[in-house]
Amino acid sequence: MKVNNTDFNKKNIGQTVTLNGWVSKKRDLGGLVFIDLRDRSGLIQLVVKPESNAYNTALSLKNEYVIKATGLIMLREKANPKLKTGEIEVNINDIEILNEAKELPFDLNNVTALEDTRLKYRYLDLRRDELKNNIITKHLVMQSTREYLNSQNFLEIETPILCKSTPEGARDYLVPSRVNKGSFYALPQSPQLFKQILMASGFERYYQIARCFRDEDLRADRQPEFTQIDLEMSFVNEEDVINLTEGLLASIFKKTKNMDLQLPFKRMTYEEAMEIYGSDKPDTRFELKINDITKAFLNTDFSVFKNVIANNGIINALVVKNEALNFSRKDIDNLTELVKTYKASALAFLKYNGEYTGSIAKFIDEKTGNLLKEMLHLENNDLILITAGDKKIVKTSLGALRLRLGKDLKLINKDKFNFLWITDFPMFEYSEEEGRYISCHHPFTQPSDINALDDKEHALARAYDIVLNGYEIGGGSIRIHKPDMQEKVLAALGFTKEEAYNKFGFLLDALTYGTPPHGGLALGLERLTMILSGTDNIRDVIAFPKTTSASCLMTEAPNEVSSKQLDELNIKLK
Ligand code: AMO
Repeated sequence: MKVNNTDFNKKNIGQTVTLNGWVSKKRDLGGLVFIDLRDRSGLIQLVVKPESNAYNTALSLKNEYVIKATGLIMLREKANPKLKTGEIEVNINDIEILNEAKELPFDLNNVTALEDTRLKYRYLDLRRDELKNNIITKHLVMQSTREYLNSQNFLEIETPILCKSTPEGARDYLVPSRVNKGSFYALPQSPQLFKQILMASGFERYYQIARCFRDEDLRADRQPEFTQIDLEMSFVNEEDVINLTEGLLASIFKKTKNMDLQLPFKRMTYEEAMEIYGSDKPDTRFELKINDITKAFLNTDFSVFKNVIANNGIINALVVKNEALNFSRKDIDNLTELVKTYKASALAFLKYNGEYTGSIAKFIDEKTGNLLKEMLHLENNDLILITAGDKKIVKTSLGALRLRLGKDLKLINKDKFNFLWITDFPMFEYSEEEGRYISCHHPFTQPSDINALDDKEHALARAYDIVLNGYEIGGGSIRIHKPDMQEKVLAALGFTKEEAYNKFGFLLDALTYGTPPHGGLALGLERLTMILSGTDNIRDVIAFPKTTSASCLMTEAPNEVSSKQLDELNIKLK
Protein backbone atom coordinates (compact mmCIF):
# COMPACT_ATOMS: atom_id res chain seq x y z
CA MET A 1 0.00 0.00 0.00
CA LYS A 2 1.17 3.55 -0.73
CA VAL A 3 2.33 5.24 2.43
CA ASN A 4 1.50 8.93 2.69
CA ASN A 5 4.38 11.24 3.54
CA THR A 6 2.26 12.62 6.35
CA ASP A 7 1.83 9.17 7.93
CA PHE A 8 5.24 9.67 9.52
CA ASN A 9 5.45 11.16 13.01
CA LYS A 10 7.53 11.14 16.20
CA LYS A 11 7.22 7.36 16.43
CA ASN A 12 9.29 7.03 13.26
CA ILE A 13 12.28 9.03 14.55
CA GLY A 14 15.50 7.23 13.68
CA GLN A 15 14.07 5.55 10.57
CA THR A 16 15.49 6.11 7.09
CA VAL A 17 12.73 6.77 4.58
CA THR A 18 12.39 7.55 0.89
CA LEU A 19 9.75 10.12 0.05
CA ASN A 20 8.24 11.20 -3.29
CA GLY A 21 6.51 14.46 -3.95
CA TRP A 22 6.51 18.04 -5.21
CA VAL A 23 8.63 20.92 -3.93
CA SER A 24 5.99 23.18 -2.48
CA LYS A 25 8.45 25.68 -1.09
CA LYS A 26 12.23 25.89 -0.74
CA ARG A 27 14.04 28.12 1.73
CA ASP A 28 17.78 28.56 1.50
CA LEU A 29 18.91 29.76 4.89
CA GLY A 30 22.58 30.12 3.91
CA GLY A 31 23.86 26.79 5.06
CA LEU A 32 20.66 24.85 5.51
CA VAL A 33 18.11 24.21 2.78
CA PHE A 34 14.54 23.60 3.95
CA ILE A 35 12.04 22.03 1.57
CA ASP A 36 8.31 21.64 2.12
CA LEU A 37 7.66 18.40 0.27
CA ARG A 38 4.05 17.92 -0.79
CA ASP A 39 2.19 14.76 -1.69
CA ARG A 40 -1.58 14.20 -1.83
CA SER A 41 -1.72 13.88 1.92
CA GLY A 42 0.02 17.16 2.77
CA LEU A 43 3.43 18.58 3.68
CA ILE A 44 6.53 17.25 5.36
CA GLN A 45 9.71 19.26 6.02
CA LEU A 46 13.02 18.13 4.54
CA VAL A 47 16.36 19.57 5.70
CA VAL A 48 19.48 19.39 3.59
CA LYS A 49 22.76 20.25 5.30
CA PRO A 50 25.88 21.48 3.46
CA GLU A 51 27.70 18.21 4.20
CA SER A 52 24.89 16.18 2.58
CA ASN A 53 25.49 14.53 -0.82
CA ALA A 54 22.21 16.11 -1.87
CA TYR A 55 23.17 19.67 -1.02
CA ASN A 56 23.93 20.92 -4.54
CA THR A 57 20.85 19.24 -5.95
CA ALA A 58 18.78 20.81 -3.16
CA LEU A 59 20.12 24.26 -4.07
CA SER A 60 19.02 23.74 -7.68
CA LEU A 61 15.41 22.79 -6.84
CA LYS A 62 12.57 25.06 -7.87
CA ASN A 63 8.92 25.10 -6.91
CA GLU A 64 6.89 22.17 -8.24
CA TYR A 65 9.90 20.04 -9.17
CA VAL A 66 9.05 16.39 -8.61
CA ILE A 67 11.65 14.66 -6.45
CA LYS A 68 12.54 11.49 -4.66
CA ALA A 69 14.40 12.14 -1.40
CA THR A 70 15.94 9.77 1.13
CA GLY A 71 16.91 10.62 4.67
CA LEU A 72 16.61 10.11 8.40
CA ILE A 73 13.53 11.14 10.38
CA MET A 74 14.50 13.41 13.25
CA LEU A 75 12.83 15.46 15.95
CA ARG A 76 12.19 19.01 14.79
CA GLU A 77 13.68 21.67 16.97
CA LYS A 78 10.71 24.00 16.76
CA ALA A 79 7.49 22.09 16.13
CA ASN A 80 4.89 23.49 13.68
CA PRO A 81 1.48 22.76 15.22
CA LYS A 82 -0.26 23.58 11.90
CA LEU A 83 1.22 20.53 10.18
CA LYS A 84 0.34 16.91 10.84
CA THR A 85 4.06 16.18 10.49
CA GLY A 86 5.00 19.33 12.42
CA GLU A 87 7.00 17.55 15.11
CA ILE A 88 9.50 15.93 12.74
CA GLU A 89 11.74 16.69 9.78
CA VAL A 90 13.72 14.48 7.43
CA ASN A 91 17.49 14.96 7.26
CA ILE A 92 18.13 14.28 3.57
CA ASN A 93 21.24 12.64 2.13
CA ASP A 94 20.01 11.83 -1.37
CA ILE A 95 17.73 13.64 -3.83
CA GLU A 96 16.76 12.48 -7.30
CA ILE A 97 14.97 14.98 -9.52
CA LEU A 98 12.19 13.00 -11.21
CA ASN A 99 10.98 15.94 -13.25
CA GLU A 100 11.51 19.66 -13.49
CA ALA A 101 8.81 22.33 -13.64
CA LYS A 102 8.67 25.62 -15.51
CA GLU A 103 7.75 28.73 -13.60
CA LEU A 104 4.04 28.43 -12.85
CA PRO A 105 1.45 30.85 -14.30
CA PHE A 106 0.26 31.46 -10.74
CA ASP A 107 1.55 30.88 -7.25
CA LEU A 108 -0.12 27.82 -5.74
CA ASN A 109 0.56 29.09 -2.23
CA ASN A 110 -1.11 32.44 -2.82
CA VAL A 111 -3.67 32.42 -5.60
CA THR A 112 -4.65 35.79 -6.97
CA ALA A 113 -5.11 34.64 -10.57
CA LEU A 114 -8.47 34.99 -12.31
CA GLU A 115 -10.63 31.88 -12.43
CA ASP A 116 -10.15 31.66 -16.21
CA THR A 117 -6.40 31.26 -15.77
CA ARG A 118 -6.95 28.71 -13.06
CA LEU A 119 -9.34 26.78 -15.33
CA LYS A 120 -6.88 26.82 -18.22
CA TYR A 121 -4.21 25.31 -15.96
CA ARG A 122 -6.65 23.16 -14.04
CA TYR A 123 -4.02 20.47 -13.38
CA LEU A 124 -2.04 23.04 -11.40
CA ASP A 125 -5.03 24.47 -9.58
CA LEU A 126 -6.04 20.96 -8.50
CA ARG A 127 -2.72 20.69 -6.65
CA ARG A 128 -3.99 23.23 -4.14
CA ASP A 129 -5.41 21.97 -0.85
CA GLU A 130 -8.74 23.71 -1.26
CA LEU A 131 -9.71 22.05 -4.54
CA LYS A 132 -8.02 18.78 -3.66
CA ASN A 133 -10.02 18.53 -0.44
CA ASN A 134 -13.27 19.20 -2.31
CA ILE A 135 -12.48 16.35 -4.70
CA ILE A 136 -11.73 14.09 -1.74
CA THR A 137 -15.02 15.09 -0.09
CA LYS A 138 -16.84 14.14 -3.28
CA HIS A 139 -15.06 10.78 -3.26
CA LEU A 140 -16.24 10.21 0.32
CA VAL A 141 -19.80 11.15 -0.60
CA MET A 142 -19.77 8.61 -3.44
CA GLN A 143 -18.21 5.89 -1.29
CA SER A 144 -20.64 6.36 1.60
CA THR A 145 -23.53 6.43 -0.87
CA ARG A 146 -22.48 3.06 -2.25
CA GLU A 147 -21.92 1.62 1.22
CA TYR A 148 -25.27 2.79 2.52
CA LEU A 149 -27.37 1.83 -0.49
CA ASN A 150 -25.68 -1.57 -0.78
CA SER A 151 -26.55 -2.16 2.88
CA GLN A 152 -30.17 -1.32 2.05
CA ASN A 153 -30.38 -4.04 -0.61
CA PHE A 154 -30.01 -1.74 -3.64
CA LEU A 155 -28.34 -2.84 -6.88
CA GLU A 156 -26.04 -0.49 -8.79
CA ILE A 157 -27.04 -0.63 -12.44
CA GLU A 158 -25.77 1.43 -15.36
CA THR A 159 -28.04 2.93 -18.00
CA PRO A 160 -27.19 4.24 -21.47
CA ILE A 161 -25.54 7.55 -22.30
CA LEU A 162 -26.66 7.42 -25.94
CA CYS A 163 -30.42 7.75 -25.57
CA LYS A 164 -33.57 8.72 -27.35
CA SER A 165 -34.42 12.41 -27.34
CA THR A 166 -37.57 12.97 -25.28
CA PRO A 167 -37.88 16.74 -25.18
CA GLU A 168 -39.54 17.47 -21.84
CA GLY A 169 -37.57 19.54 -19.41
CA ALA A 170 -34.28 21.11 -20.43
CA ARG A 171 -32.75 21.18 -23.91
CA ASP A 172 -31.03 17.94 -24.96
CA TYR A 173 -27.42 17.54 -26.04
CA LEU A 174 -27.59 15.71 -29.36
CA VAL A 175 -25.15 13.22 -30.85
CA PRO A 176 -25.43 12.49 -34.58
CA SER A 177 -25.51 8.85 -35.61
CA ARG A 178 -23.08 7.84 -38.36
CA VAL A 179 -24.74 4.51 -39.00
CA ASN A 180 -28.27 5.89 -39.06
CA LYS A 181 -27.72 9.02 -41.09
CA GLY A 182 -30.01 11.93 -40.21
CA SER A 183 -30.82 10.41 -36.80
CA PHE A 184 -29.58 11.61 -33.43
CA TYR A 185 -29.06 10.25 -29.99
CA ALA A 186 -29.62 12.50 -27.01
CA LEU A 187 -27.43 12.46 -23.92
CA PRO A 188 -29.57 11.64 -20.85
CA GLN A 189 -30.88 14.57 -18.79
CA SER A 190 -31.34 11.91 -16.11
CA PRO A 191 -31.86 8.12 -16.14
CA GLN A 192 -35.55 8.71 -15.30
CA LEU A 193 -37.22 6.42 -17.83
CA PHE A 194 -34.59 3.69 -17.59
CA LYS A 195 -34.89 3.47 -13.84
CA GLN A 196 -38.65 3.15 -14.11
CA ILE A 197 -38.19 0.41 -16.72
CA LEU A 198 -35.81 -1.35 -14.29
CA MET A 199 -38.68 -1.39 -11.79
CA ALA A 200 -40.88 -2.96 -14.49
CA SER A 201 -38.10 -5.54 -14.91
CA GLY A 202 -38.33 -6.46 -11.24
CA PHE A 203 -35.06 -5.10 -9.85
CA GLU A 204 -37.01 -3.48 -6.98
CA ARG A 205 -34.19 -1.28 -5.68
CA TYR A 206 -31.82 0.48 -8.10
CA TYR A 207 -29.19 3.15 -7.74
CA GLN A 208 -26.56 4.72 -9.91
CA ILE A 209 -24.09 7.53 -9.59
CA ALA A 210 -25.22 8.83 -12.94
CA ARG A 211 -23.84 11.45 -15.30
CA CYS A 212 -26.56 13.77 -16.62
CA PHE A 213 -26.44 16.35 -19.40
CA ARG A 214 -28.63 19.42 -19.80
CA ASP A 215 -28.17 22.19 -22.31
CA GLU A 216 -29.53 24.97 -20.12
CA ASP A 217 -28.43 28.40 -18.95
CA LEU A 218 -25.66 27.90 -16.44
CA ARG A 219 -25.48 29.37 -12.98
CA ALA A 220 -23.25 29.16 -9.93
CA ASP A 221 -24.95 25.87 -8.98
CA ARG A 222 -25.56 24.48 -12.45
CA GLN A 223 -23.30 22.69 -14.93
CA PRO A 224 -24.13 21.27 -18.37
CA GLU A 225 -22.89 17.89 -17.21
CA PHE A 226 -23.36 16.92 -13.63
CA THR A 227 -23.89 13.84 -11.50
CA GLN A 228 -26.91 12.48 -9.71
CA ILE A 229 -27.14 9.97 -6.93
CA ASP A 230 -30.11 8.40 -8.65
CA LEU A 231 -32.36 5.83 -6.98
CA GLU A 232 -35.65 4.09 -7.52
CA MET A 233 -37.68 1.71 -5.35
CA SER A 234 -40.68 -0.56 -5.95
CA PHE A 235 -43.71 -1.04 -3.68
CA VAL A 236 -43.14 2.26 -1.86
CA ASN A 237 -44.88 5.49 -0.97
CA GLU A 238 -43.50 8.97 -0.17
CA GLU A 239 -42.59 8.03 3.40
CA ASP A 240 -40.39 5.13 2.27
CA VAL A 241 -38.40 7.26 -0.18
CA ILE A 242 -38.09 10.11 2.34
CA ASN A 243 -36.90 7.79 5.14
CA LEU A 244 -34.39 6.09 2.89
CA THR A 245 -33.01 9.44 1.69
CA GLU A 246 -32.70 10.73 5.24
CA GLY A 247 -30.74 7.60 6.20
CA LEU A 248 -28.49 8.07 3.18
CA LEU A 249 -27.82 11.75 3.95
CA ALA A 250 -27.17 10.92 7.60
CA SER A 251 -24.56 8.36 6.62
CA ILE A 252 -22.95 10.78 4.13
CA PHE A 253 -22.70 13.47 6.83
CA LYS A 254 -21.27 10.99 9.30
CA LYS A 255 -18.60 9.91 6.84
CA THR A 256 -17.63 13.33 5.51
CA LYS A 257 -18.15 15.56 8.57
CA ASN A 258 -18.40 13.07 11.41
CA MET A 259 -21.69 14.78 12.16
CA ASP A 260 -24.89 13.17 13.46
CA LEU A 261 -27.88 14.63 11.64
CA GLN A 262 -31.09 14.97 13.53
CA LEU A 263 -33.76 12.86 11.86
CA PRO A 264 -36.45 13.20 10.65
CA PHE A 265 -35.96 16.44 8.72
CA LYS A 266 -38.57 19.19 8.86
CA ARG A 267 -41.21 19.31 6.15
CA MET A 268 -43.19 22.08 4.53
CA THR A 269 -45.66 22.13 1.67
CA TYR A 270 -44.79 23.99 -1.50
CA GLU A 271 -47.63 26.41 -0.83
CA GLU A 272 -46.40 27.21 2.66
CA ALA A 273 -42.82 27.69 1.43
CA MET A 274 -43.92 30.12 -1.27
CA GLU A 275 -46.17 31.96 1.19
CA ILE A 276 -43.54 32.45 3.90
CA TYR A 277 -40.25 32.41 2.01
CA GLY A 278 -41.20 33.20 -1.59
CA SER A 279 -39.17 30.20 -2.73
CA ASP A 280 -39.54 26.46 -3.15
CA LYS A 281 -36.03 26.07 -1.78
CA PRO A 282 -36.03 28.33 1.26
CA ASP A 283 -32.90 28.98 3.26
CA THR A 284 -34.25 28.48 6.76
CA ARG A 285 -30.97 29.32 8.51
CA PHE A 286 -32.46 32.77 9.15
CA GLU A 287 -35.96 34.12 9.80
CA LEU A 288 -37.01 37.28 7.89
CA LYS A 289 -40.34 35.84 6.77
CA ILE A 290 -42.71 37.37 4.25
CA ASN A 291 -45.85 38.93 5.72
CA ASP A 292 -49.15 39.38 3.93
CA ILE A 293 -50.40 42.89 4.76
CA THR A 294 -53.12 43.10 2.09
CA LYS A 295 -55.80 43.31 4.79
CA ALA A 296 -54.33 46.51 6.22
CA PHE A 297 -54.99 48.27 2.92
CA LEU A 298 -58.53 47.12 2.10
CA ASN A 299 -59.85 50.69 2.43
CA THR A 300 -56.75 52.54 1.26
CA ASP A 301 -56.80 55.75 -0.78
CA PHE A 302 -53.47 54.84 -2.34
CA SER A 303 -54.48 54.17 -5.93
CA VAL A 304 -51.64 51.70 -6.66
CA PHE A 305 -52.58 49.40 -3.77
CA LYS A 306 -56.27 49.95 -4.47
CA ASN A 307 -55.83 48.68 -8.04
CA VAL A 308 -53.76 45.73 -6.89
CA ILE A 309 -56.51 44.64 -4.51
CA ALA A 310 -59.19 45.19 -7.16
CA ASN A 311 -57.22 42.87 -9.47
CA ASN A 312 -56.93 40.10 -6.86
CA GLY A 313 -53.31 40.95 -6.20
CA ILE A 314 -51.55 40.99 -2.84
CA ILE A 315 -49.47 43.39 -0.76
CA ASN A 316 -46.60 41.78 1.14
CA ALA A 317 -43.81 43.01 3.35
CA LEU A 318 -40.47 42.10 4.87
CA VAL A 319 -39.65 43.65 8.21
CA VAL A 320 -35.96 44.29 8.72
CA LYS A 321 -35.58 44.62 12.47
CA ASN A 322 -33.77 47.60 13.92
CA GLU A 323 -32.20 48.68 10.62
CA ALA A 324 -34.31 51.67 9.50
CA LEU A 325 -31.61 54.21 10.33
CA ASN A 326 -28.96 52.17 8.52
CA PHE A 327 -30.72 52.15 5.14
CA SER A 328 -30.20 55.15 2.90
CA ARG A 329 -32.34 56.05 -0.08
CA LYS A 330 -29.55 54.67 -2.27
CA ASP A 331 -29.57 51.34 -0.42
CA ILE A 332 -33.29 51.08 -1.05
CA ASP A 333 -32.83 52.01 -4.72
CA ASN A 334 -30.39 49.10 -5.02
CA LEU A 335 -32.90 46.73 -3.47
CA THR A 336 -35.54 48.10 -5.85
CA GLU A 337 -33.32 47.15 -8.78
CA LEU A 338 -33.19 43.62 -7.42
CA VAL A 339 -36.97 43.17 -7.06
CA LYS A 340 -37.44 44.64 -10.54
CA THR A 341 -35.38 41.80 -12.00
CA TYR A 342 -38.09 39.55 -10.57
CA LYS A 343 -40.73 41.63 -12.38
CA ALA A 344 -41.97 43.55 -9.34
CA SER A 345 -43.02 47.02 -10.44
CA ALA A 346 -41.59 48.82 -7.42
CA LEU A 347 -40.40 48.51 -3.85
CA ALA A 348 -42.18 50.74 -1.35
CA PHE A 349 -40.68 51.32 2.06
CA LEU A 350 -41.66 52.58 5.48
CA LYS A 351 -39.54 53.34 8.49
CA TYR A 352 -41.23 53.01 11.85
CA ASN A 353 -40.29 55.15 14.77
CA GLY A 354 -43.53 55.63 16.67
CA GLU A 355 -44.72 57.14 13.40
CA TYR A 356 -44.08 56.28 9.78
CA THR A 357 -41.75 57.89 7.27
CA GLY A 358 -40.81 56.58 3.86
CA SER A 359 -42.02 56.41 0.27
CA ILE A 360 -45.69 55.66 1.07
CA ALA A 361 -45.89 57.26 4.53
CA LYS A 362 -48.49 59.79 3.42
CA PHE A 363 -50.95 56.96 2.71
CA ILE A 364 -50.61 55.45 6.17
CA ASP A 365 -53.47 56.93 8.20
CA GLU A 366 -53.81 56.22 11.90
CA LYS A 367 -55.95 53.14 11.44
CA THR A 368 -53.69 51.58 8.80
CA GLY A 369 -50.65 52.47 10.88
CA ASN A 370 -52.07 50.70 13.93
CA LEU A 371 -53.04 47.69 11.86
CA LEU A 372 -49.54 47.42 10.41
CA LYS A 373 -47.95 47.83 13.81
CA GLU A 374 -50.01 44.95 15.15
CA MET A 375 -49.65 42.67 12.12
CA LEU A 376 -45.89 43.16 11.84
CA HIS A 377 -45.09 43.48 15.57
CA LEU A 378 -43.29 46.73 14.78
CA GLU A 379 -40.75 48.29 17.09
CA ASN A 380 -38.80 51.50 16.76
CA ASN A 381 -36.21 51.59 13.98
CA ASP A 382 -37.84 48.77 11.96
CA LEU A 383 -37.63 48.99 8.18
CA ILE A 384 -40.62 47.70 6.18
CA LEU A 385 -40.07 46.77 2.52
CA ILE A 386 -43.23 46.28 0.49
CA THR A 387 -44.16 44.94 -2.94
CA ALA A 388 -47.65 44.70 -4.36
CA GLY A 389 -49.19 43.01 -7.38
CA ASP A 390 -49.56 39.52 -8.80
CA LYS A 391 -49.09 36.91 -6.08
CA LYS A 392 -46.34 34.95 -7.78
CA ILE A 393 -44.32 38.06 -8.62
CA VAL A 394 -44.73 39.53 -5.14
CA LYS A 395 -43.67 36.30 -3.44
CA THR A 396 -40.68 35.52 -5.65
CA SER A 397 -39.37 39.08 -5.63
CA LEU A 398 -39.59 39.32 -1.84
CA GLY A 399 -38.08 35.83 -1.61
CA ALA A 400 -35.06 37.06 -3.57
CA LEU A 401 -34.91 40.25 -1.50
CA ARG A 402 -35.00 38.17 1.67
CA LEU A 403 -31.97 36.19 0.51
CA ARG A 404 -30.06 39.34 -0.42
CA LEU A 405 -30.77 40.89 2.98
CA GLY A 406 -29.86 37.66 4.72
CA LYS A 407 -26.43 37.80 3.06
CA ASP A 408 -25.86 41.56 3.29
CA LEU A 409 -26.92 41.77 6.94
CA LYS A 410 -25.02 38.57 7.80
CA LEU A 411 -28.14 36.94 9.21
CA ILE A 412 -27.04 33.48 8.02
CA ASN A 413 -25.34 31.15 10.45
CA LYS A 414 -22.80 29.41 8.21
CA ASP A 415 -22.30 26.52 10.63
CA LYS A 416 -25.86 25.33 10.26
CA PHE A 417 -27.09 22.56 7.98
CA ASN A 418 -30.82 23.13 7.62
CA PHE A 419 -32.53 20.31 5.78
CA LEU A 420 -36.12 20.74 4.69
CA TRP A 421 -38.46 18.58 2.64
CA ILE A 422 -40.80 20.48 0.35
CA THR A 423 -43.90 18.40 -0.41
CA ASP A 424 -47.17 18.72 -2.34
CA PHE A 425 -45.68 20.37 -5.40
CA PRO A 426 -48.00 21.58 -8.13
CA MET A 427 -48.51 19.06 -10.92
CA PHE A 428 -48.12 21.71 -13.64
CA GLU A 429 -46.48 25.06 -14.16
CA TYR A 430 -47.14 27.56 -16.90
CA SER A 431 -44.21 28.00 -19.25
CA GLU A 432 -44.11 31.51 -20.73
CA GLU A 433 -41.52 30.29 -23.22
CA GLU A 434 -43.68 27.47 -24.54
CA GLY A 435 -47.02 29.17 -23.98
CA ARG A 436 -48.47 26.09 -22.31
CA TYR A 437 -48.54 24.14 -19.06
CA ILE A 438 -45.62 21.78 -18.55
CA SER A 439 -44.85 19.31 -15.76
CA CYS A 440 -43.54 20.91 -12.62
CA HIS A 441 -41.45 17.77 -11.93
CA HIS A 442 -41.73 15.46 -14.94
CA PRO A 443 -44.58 13.81 -16.87
CA PHE A 444 -44.17 10.48 -15.05
CA THR A 445 -45.07 11.86 -11.64
CA GLN A 446 -48.32 10.70 -10.09
CA PRO A 447 -50.94 13.37 -9.56
CA SER A 448 -52.34 13.55 -6.01
CA ASP A 449 -55.81 13.25 -7.53
CA ILE A 450 -56.19 11.91 -11.07
CA ASN A 451 -59.65 13.49 -11.27
CA ALA A 452 -58.35 16.99 -10.55
CA LEU A 453 -56.12 17.46 -13.59
CA ASP A 454 -58.38 19.97 -15.32
CA ASP A 455 -57.64 22.68 -12.79
CA LYS A 456 -54.06 23.09 -13.91
CA GLU A 457 -53.31 25.94 -11.51
CA HIS A 458 -54.20 23.89 -8.46
CA ALA A 459 -53.60 20.21 -9.32
CA LEU A 460 -51.01 18.72 -6.95
CA ALA A 461 -48.37 16.05 -7.50
CA ARG A 462 -46.89 13.31 -5.34
CA ALA A 463 -43.52 15.03 -5.69
CA TYR A 464 -41.00 16.14 -3.10
CA ASP A 465 -37.72 18.06 -3.04
CA ILE A 466 -35.02 17.97 -0.43
CA VAL A 467 -33.57 21.40 0.32
CA LEU A 468 -30.37 22.16 2.22
CA ASN A 469 -29.40 25.72 3.19
CA GLY A 470 -31.39 27.22 0.33
CA TYR A 471 -30.20 24.77 -2.34
CA GLU A 472 -32.40 22.17 -3.99
CA ILE A 473 -30.12 19.20 -3.44
CA GLY A 474 -32.57 16.61 -4.69
CA GLY A 475 -36.01 15.82 -5.93
CA GLY A 476 -38.24 12.92 -6.74
CA SER A 477 -41.74 11.57 -6.85
CA ILE A 478 -44.05 8.61 -6.73
CA ARG A 479 -44.48 7.56 -10.35
CA ILE A 480 -47.42 6.61 -12.44
CA HIS A 481 -47.47 2.82 -12.86
CA LYS A 482 -50.79 2.37 -14.68
CA PRO A 483 -51.01 3.02 -18.44
CA ASP A 484 -54.39 4.74 -18.35
CA MET A 485 -53.23 7.24 -15.75
CA GLN A 486 -50.05 7.92 -17.72
CA GLU A 487 -52.06 8.52 -20.87
CA LYS A 488 -54.34 10.93 -19.03
CA VAL A 489 -51.42 12.93 -17.66
CA LEU A 490 -49.72 13.08 -21.06
CA ALA A 491 -53.04 14.23 -22.56
CA ALA A 492 -53.30 16.93 -19.90
CA LEU A 493 -49.84 18.09 -20.97
CA GLY A 494 -51.13 18.44 -24.51
CA PHE A 495 -49.71 15.27 -26.10
CA THR A 496 -51.98 13.51 -28.58
CA LYS A 497 -52.08 9.75 -28.13
CA GLU A 498 -49.90 9.38 -31.22
CA GLU A 499 -47.29 11.83 -29.96
CA ALA A 500 -47.29 10.16 -26.57
CA TYR A 501 -46.61 6.73 -28.11
CA ASN A 502 -44.07 8.17 -30.48
CA LYS A 503 -42.03 9.60 -27.60
CA PHE A 504 -42.70 7.32 -24.67
CA GLY A 505 -44.18 4.22 -26.31
CA PHE A 506 -41.71 1.86 -24.62
CA LEU A 507 -42.73 3.19 -21.19
CA LEU A 508 -46.46 3.11 -21.93
CA ASP A 509 -46.05 -0.49 -23.18
CA ALA A 510 -44.01 -1.52 -20.16
CA LEU A 511 -46.76 -0.21 -17.89
CA THR A 512 -49.16 -2.71 -19.51
CA TYR A 513 -47.03 -5.73 -18.55
CA GLY A 514 -47.21 -5.66 -14.76
CA THR A 515 -45.19 -2.68 -13.59
CA PRO A 516 -45.15 -2.42 -9.79
CA PRO A 517 -45.96 0.79 -7.90
CA HIS A 518 -42.67 2.66 -7.61
CA GLY A 519 -41.03 5.94 -6.74
CA GLY A 520 -37.62 7.44 -6.20
CA LEU A 521 -35.44 10.47 -6.09
CA ALA A 522 -32.15 11.91 -7.32
CA LEU A 523 -29.67 13.96 -5.31
CA GLY A 524 -27.40 16.45 -7.04
CA LEU A 525 -23.95 15.14 -6.11
CA GLU A 526 -22.17 18.42 -6.85
CA ARG A 527 -24.65 20.59 -4.97
CA LEU A 528 -24.38 18.35 -1.93
CA THR A 529 -20.58 18.39 -2.15
CA MET A 530 -20.59 22.18 -2.55
CA ILE A 531 -22.39 22.59 0.74
CA LEU A 532 -20.22 20.02 2.49
CA SER A 533 -17.14 21.85 1.16
CA GLY A 534 -18.40 25.31 2.09
CA THR A 535 -18.22 26.74 -1.45
CA ASP A 536 -20.97 28.41 -3.47
CA ASN A 537 -19.28 27.74 -6.80
CA ILE A 538 -20.15 24.36 -8.36
CA ARG A 539 -16.91 24.43 -10.39
CA ASP A 540 -14.97 24.08 -7.15
CA VAL A 541 -16.22 20.52 -6.66
CA ILE A 542 -15.72 19.26 -10.23
CA ALA A 543 -12.25 18.16 -11.35
CA PHE A 544 -12.73 19.44 -14.90
CA PRO A 545 -15.68 21.82 -14.98
CA LYS A 546 -17.15 23.95 -17.75
CA THR A 547 -17.39 27.73 -17.69
CA THR A 548 -20.76 29.50 -17.64
CA SER A 549 -20.56 29.52 -21.43
CA ALA A 550 -20.29 25.71 -21.35
CA SER A 551 -16.68 25.44 -22.47
CA CYS A 552 -13.66 23.72 -20.98
CA LEU A 553 -10.76 26.21 -20.91
CA MET A 554 -8.18 23.45 -20.46
CA THR A 555 -9.08 21.19 -23.40
CA GLU A 556 -10.85 23.94 -25.36
CA ALA A 557 -14.00 21.85 -25.84
CA PRO A 558 -16.27 22.32 -27.69
CA ASN A 559 -14.22 22.64 -30.86
CA GLU A 560 -14.72 22.63 -34.59
CA VAL A 561 -14.40 19.27 -36.30
CA SER A 562 -12.98 18.34 -39.70
CA SER A 563 -15.13 18.28 -42.81
CA LYS A 564 -14.25 14.58 -43.08
CA GLN A 565 -15.90 13.93 -39.71
CA LEU A 566 -18.95 15.93 -40.75
CA ASP A 567 -19.14 14.12 -44.10
CA GLU A 568 -19.17 10.76 -42.34
CA LEU A 569 -22.11 11.98 -40.32
CA ASN A 570 -23.80 13.38 -43.40
CA ILE A 571 -23.91 16.80 -41.75
CA LYS A 572 -23.51 20.18 -43.44
CA LEU A 573 -23.12 23.28 -41.30
CA LYS A 574 -25.46 26.18 -41.98
P1 AMO B 1 -34.19 16.89 -11.06
O1 AMO B 1 -34.27 17.45 -12.43
O2 AMO B 1 -34.89 17.65 -9.97
O3 AMO B 1 -34.84 15.44 -11.01
O4 AMO B 1 -32.68 16.68 -10.68
C1 AMO B 1 -32.30 16.14 -9.43
C2 AMO B 1 -31.22 16.97 -8.78
O5 AMO B 1 -30.09 17.12 -9.63
C3 AMO B 1 -29.46 18.37 -9.39
N1 AMO B 1 -29.34 19.12 -10.67
C4 AMO B 1 -28.23 19.74 -11.10
N2 AMO B 1 -27.02 19.89 -10.54
C5 AMO B 1 -26.09 20.57 -11.23
N3 AMO B 1 -26.28 21.09 -12.45
C6 AMO B 1 -27.48 20.96 -13.07
N4 AMO B 1 -27.65 21.46 -14.31
C7 AMO B 1 -28.52 20.27 -12.39
N5 AMO B 1 -29.81 19.95 -12.68
C8 AMO B 1 -30.28 19.26 -11.64
C9 AMO B 1 -30.31 19.12 -8.40
C10 AMO B 1 -31.64 18.41 -8.51
O6 AMO B 1 -32.37 18.48 -7.31
N6 AMO B 1 -35.18 12.23 -12.72
C11 AMO B 1 -35.51 13.24 -11.71
C12 AMO B 1 -35.36 12.70 -10.31
C13 AMO B 1 -36.46 11.77 -9.90
O7 AMO B 1 -37.64 12.10 -10.12
O8 AMO B 1 -36.15 10.70 -9.33
C14 AMO B 1 -34.59 14.44 -11.89
O9 AMO B 1 -33.69 14.46 -12.69
O10 AMO B 1 -29.76 18.96 -7.11
